[in-house]
Amino acid sequence: MSKVFVLNGVNLGTLGTRRPNVYGTMTLDDIEKLVDYAFPDLDLEFRQTDFEGEMVSFIREASGSDGLIINSGAWTHYSYALHDALESLDVPKVEVHLSNVHTREQWRRHSVISPVVDAVVAGMGAYGYVAAVGYLVERIDRPR
Ligand code: DQA
Repeated sequence: MSKVFVLNGVNLGTLGTRRPNVYGTMTLDDIEKLVDYAFPDLDLEFRQTDFEGEMVSFIREASGSDGLIINSGAWTHYSYALHDALESLDVPKVEVHLSNVHTREQWRRHSVISPVVDAVVAGMGAYGYVAAVGYLVERIDRPR
């Protein structure tokens, strides 16, 4: 069974009540259930943390897995620690954002992790997680 890590960073544990007009009304638990339901044949490892160092540990843990998707929240825009951890991880990686960060504040339009991931999904809401895992499944089934 293929193993995929689904990592969520700072403030994503508050989904459901956090700015629902921007991030939707689903909780992180709802999103995880949605992904689980969509991919019953995958071994999905869901993690969330508000601590940057813990996120670095999760990224390292994904070494040897079949892929990783990450919504690193606000860290996306400035964390060189996450950049370096992701750069060192040799599995397919997708960056996910619920909102379309490119239509929002200027500072959200820049991601320091985009250069070290394979693909970026933004603005699809919770479905973006399903799309991102779907891409990884495609990569697993048809390796380059
Ligand atoms: C986010 C976008 C980030 O700018 C923000 O800091 C978040 C959530 C998104 O999913 O749209 O926490 O990553």
